[in-house]
Amino acid sequence: MQQTSAIITAERKHSHVEICLQREVCFDMTPTGFDGYRFEHNAAPEIDAAAVDLSTSFLGRKIGLPLMISSMTGGYGDALALNRTLAEAAEKYAIPLGVGSMRQALEGQSHRESFAIVRKAAPNAPVYANIGAPEVAAGLDRAQLSTMIDLIGADALIVHLNPAQELFQPEGNTAFSGFLDRLQTVAATIPVPVIAKEVGCGISARVARRLADAGVRAIDVAGAGGISWQKVEEFRYLSRFPEESRFSPSALQELLNWGIPTTECLKGLSELRAGHPEYAQLGLVASGGIRNGIDIAKSIALGADLAASAQPLLKALHAGTLERTIETWMNDLRAVMFLTGSATIEELKKAPLHNKL
Ligand SMILES: Cc1cc2nc3c(=O)[nH]c(=O)nc-3n(C[C@H](O)[C@H](O)[C@H](O)COP(=O)(O)O)c2cc1C
Repeated sequence: MQQTSAIITAERKHSHVEICLQREVCFDMTPTGFDGYRFEHNAAPEIDAAAVDLSTSFLGRKIGLPLMISSMTGGYGDALALNRTLAEAAEKYAIPLGVGSMRQALEGQSHRESFAIVRKAAPNAPVYANIGAPEVAAGLDRAQLSTMIDLIGADALIVHLNPAQELFQPEGNTAFSGFLDRLQTVAATIPVPVIAKEVGCGISARVARRLADAGVRAIDVAGAGGISWQKVEEFRYLSRFPEESRFSPSALQELLNWGIPTTECLKGLSELRAGHPEYAQLGLVASGGIRNGIDIAKSIALGADLAASAQPLLKALHAGTLERTIETWMNDLRAVMFLTGSATIEELKKAPLHNKL
């Protein structure tokens, strides 16, 4: 039985990568909001462009630039090569990397190496384990938690909240009740911090507060505007049940675009941190539709500690341009820092950002 569910999980992870590479699955009606902002140009920056320093820190670790490679994959044959390449890039640029959901590693022994490779290829970079809210809600015991953390020598455990994805997924698990209590137990049990993330529908300040109260140390908003997991799962649903429509056509469009835009999440969570001392130390990651280094810079100025990206980096990896893409984003970020007179990421946090007229 466990073996069967491990095979289903592995097939699903494989099909997710294929759909994300080949299909148009981004939000089309809900933009991230980054285009609505512009930095105030600084005509007298008083710094040398060559001296701009991209390094920063996250969860107590120094990192090379404020970028994380978001959780994507693991648990099936081809995932080993993908994770190795992602981990090599994480090590080279000293940036954090999340592995994909480790549910498959809990269901069986096969393909565990596709996760373990990450620590081998990135001995020094922060690497983060990953599991879904439904698995947390169902209850994870100490041995399962240790398996995930030990398999990759994880520096943190990411718990992904994906109710819309599970709702659209043909074989989805929508049993979320009891999640926060169980999350609190997980956070109190494991020796590494818990990061909570969405997968593309965003996290509001209201929810972030409840997550932080349960012991979560950082929130990755994964807001709307990048990939829509409702669309990914709708492709999978229609390939099985081509004649069946679950929702009325106009509601379907709204549901496929359901979510809080990434910049709206960032504003809400920055205000939460600024206005409430008890949440001031909550880490904040910007993701969902990051397209370049200017989006990273805007994320920082909107209050994030770093930005994270998944689908654009997967596409770059597939095209053989992963490292070039990261270096181009570094150049974008350096350009913004010079033109706003920000020598460090700390200074970029204070750079004036305006709503475009
Ligand atoms: C192929 C693929 C697989 C993913 N699998 C996971 C996963 O297992 N766990 C998770 O937390 N997020 C997963 N995600 C979601 C991403 O981590 C990210 O939150 C989301 O794609 C939004 O970022 P983006 O717009 O930069 O792609 C996956 C994304 C992609 C593209």
